[in-house]
Amino acid sequence: MQLFASFLVVLSVFHAAMGAADKFPAPVLVERQTNPLPTTQVGDACLDYSITANMSTISANSSYRAAFIQKAPVGTIITSRMLNAAQAKLPALTANVALNQECGNLTELALTEAANNFTNGFVAQFSTKDLPVGIKAGPEVIVIVGCICVLFSMVWVFAG
Ligand SMILES: *[C@@H]1O[C@H](CO)[C@@H](O)[C@H](O)[C@H]1NC(C)=O
Ligand SMILES: *[C@@H]1O[C@H](CO)[C@@H](O)[C@H](O)[C@H]1NC(C)=O
Ligand SMILES: *[C@@H]1O[C@H](CO)[C@@H](O)[C@H](O)[C@H]1NC(C)=O
Ligand SMILES: *[C@@H]1O[C@H](CO)[C@@H](O)[C@H](O)[C@H]1NC(C)=O
Repeated sequence: MQLFASFLVVLSVFHAAMGAADKFPAPVLVERQTNPLPTTQVGDACLDYSITANMSTISANSSYRAAFIQKAPVGTIITSRMLNAAQAKLPALTANVALNQECGNLTELALTEAANNFTNGFVAQFSTKDLPVGIKAGPEVIVIVGCICVLFSMVWVFAG
C-alpha cells in the first residue's frame, strides 16, 4: 500500500509538471508567432504582404484553416492567433495601391494559388492527405478506460 501511494504521488507530480508547461509556453516562440507582421520598418514589404495574404487566405476559409491548424507544428492557440492577426492586417495591404503596384496583387495571387494548392492536396506547405479524421474510438478504449478506473479506485479500496 505504501508503495502504491508513492506511485500515485509520483504520477500526480508528472501531471502537475505537464500542466505547468502548458501554461508557460516558450516566450520567444509566442513573441515571434503572434507578432509576425510589424506594419512599419519591414525589410521587405512585398514579402510581408505575401506572407500576410497567404496566411489570411488560409484563415478566411474554414477548410484551409482547419487543415492548417491541425498540421502547424506550434499549438492550436498560437496558430489561430497568427492566422487571425494576418486576416485583420490584410485589408489595409490589399487596398494599398502603391504596394499592389510594386509587388503585384498578392491578395489575388494568394486566393487563386491557395485554391490550386488545396485542389492538389496542400494547404501552405502542408499535405492534407494524412490528416486525422477523428479520435480513436475502438474497443481497446474500453480496456484502457477500465484500467484507469481500476488504478484510481484502488486508493480508496486500500485506504478503506
Ligand atoms: C504565397 O503564395 C504564393 C502563391 O502560391 C507563393 O508564390 C509565395 O511564395 C507565398 N509566399 C510565401 C511567403 O510563402
Ligand atoms: C487586389 O485583388 C483583390 C481581390 O481580387 C481586390 O479586391 C483588390 O481591389 C485588388 N487590389 C488592388 C489595389 O487592385
Ligand atoms: C474554401 O475553399 C474551397 C476550395 O477552394 C472552396 O470550395 C470553398 O467554397 C471555400 N470556402 C469558403 C467559405 O470560402
Ligand atoms: C502553395 O503551395 C506552395 C508549395 O506547397 C507554397 O509554397 C505556397 O505558399 C502555397 N500558396 C498559398 C497561397 O498557400
